[in-house]
Amino acid sequence: MNASLHQLLASYDDRLPLDRASTIPASWYVDAGIAELERQSVFGRSWQVVARTGQLQQPGAFVTAELAGEPLVLVRGNDRQLRAFYNVCRHHAAAVVAEEHGTTSILRCPYHGWSYGLDGCLKGAPEFEGVRDFDRAQNGLVPVRVETWESFVFVTLDPDAAPLPELLGGLASRVASLNPGALHFFERRIYSLNCNWKVFVDNYLDGGYHVPHLHKALNSVLDYKQYTIECEDRYCLQSSPMVASDVDAATSATRTGARAWYFWQYPNFMINVYAGYMDTNLVLPDGVDRCKVVFDFYFADVSEAAAEHNRQSIAVGERVNDEDVGICEAVQRGLHSRAYGAGRLSVRREAGEHLFHRLLARDLQQAAKQSTGT
Ligand code: FES
Ligand SMILES: [Fe+2]
Repeated sequence: MNASLHQLLASYDDRLPLDRASTIPASWYVDAGIAELERQSVFGRSWQVVARTGQLQQPGAFVTAELAGEPLVLVRGNDRQLRAFYNVCRHHAAAVVAEEHGTTSILRCPYHGWSYGLDGCLKGAPEFEGVRDFDRAQNGLVPVRVETWESFVFVTLDPDAAPLPELLGGLASRVASLNPGALHFFERRIYSLNCNWKVFVDNYLDGGYHVPHLHKALNSVLDYKQYTIECEDRYCLQSSPMVASDVDAATSATRTGARAWYFWQYPNFMINVYAGYMDTNLVLPDGVDRCKVVFDFYFADVSEAAAEHNRQSIAVGERVNDEDVGICEAVQRGLHSRAYGAGRLSVRREAGEHLFHRLLARDLQQAAKQSTGT
């Protein structure tokens, strides 16, 4: 690791309490070396959501994904076991599965026709007679750790990562108490933003600070003064009592219940719950200055009769997201400015951002230490 990257990492002090802390430095949002370190030590090591269990129910069902630049394939075996593999042919490295999702009885590489069972074992290698010292048993697809929680399929590229339940910590029981299993997937929307992935996460974790200014309609149904922020383990729960409002009919019709629940799990996964509604956000880096956010919308009722209501609800979410996109992109431009280095944090509102920055700094600093052997 080069000296300037060490200097960048040393410029944030993760031991300062919230009332003394600043944000991570602006350079961390614009530096390619930091982005690469994150790819290896954050995305390459944490448990990441890559699919929904509903996509992988039947034997032969598969989904392809990419994590930290690695092509992956997830597949349900005939033994009903869910497995994940690097989607890299052991012959000459082509992607064995080209489709995003589907159902198959065998995984056949499109390049030279090598085929693998749903359990990853090499089944066929055409015209390979006479090849010496070639052990088929050693040439199966390389496995990746996979676990499920609620309706989410997680994988990790790190063979030494702690088991998923340990990393979810208290988040698991708190989300379970809202019974998300009763909701059904309805639609996915993917947004591309011109900002570093951490800008989107920061915006999410500011404890509602921006809501009265940026999201007037949403703000009208939240009791902003009673908004709570709880940080624990590797998650933050932001929650607010809800109030009746006639400011915006669509928001009032689709954002209902006693409370709004906004969960964030380090580093990049959010679960937002209202009565009969959930959306999840997965924030994925796309270079230093760009990210993609995958929104999955779930509803209690996904029947045809409820479709209009559900579409209206998604439109409300989309408007809030549009408001966030504009500000996140403005922040990214500001982070490039010579006028800005880092900012202070609101003790009342921004404990979630503080947790995010400390967890990230620890991951990056640990990776830096390992790379220099100190
Ligand atoms: S690369 Fe897959 S069969 Fe040759
Ligand atoms: Fe927002």
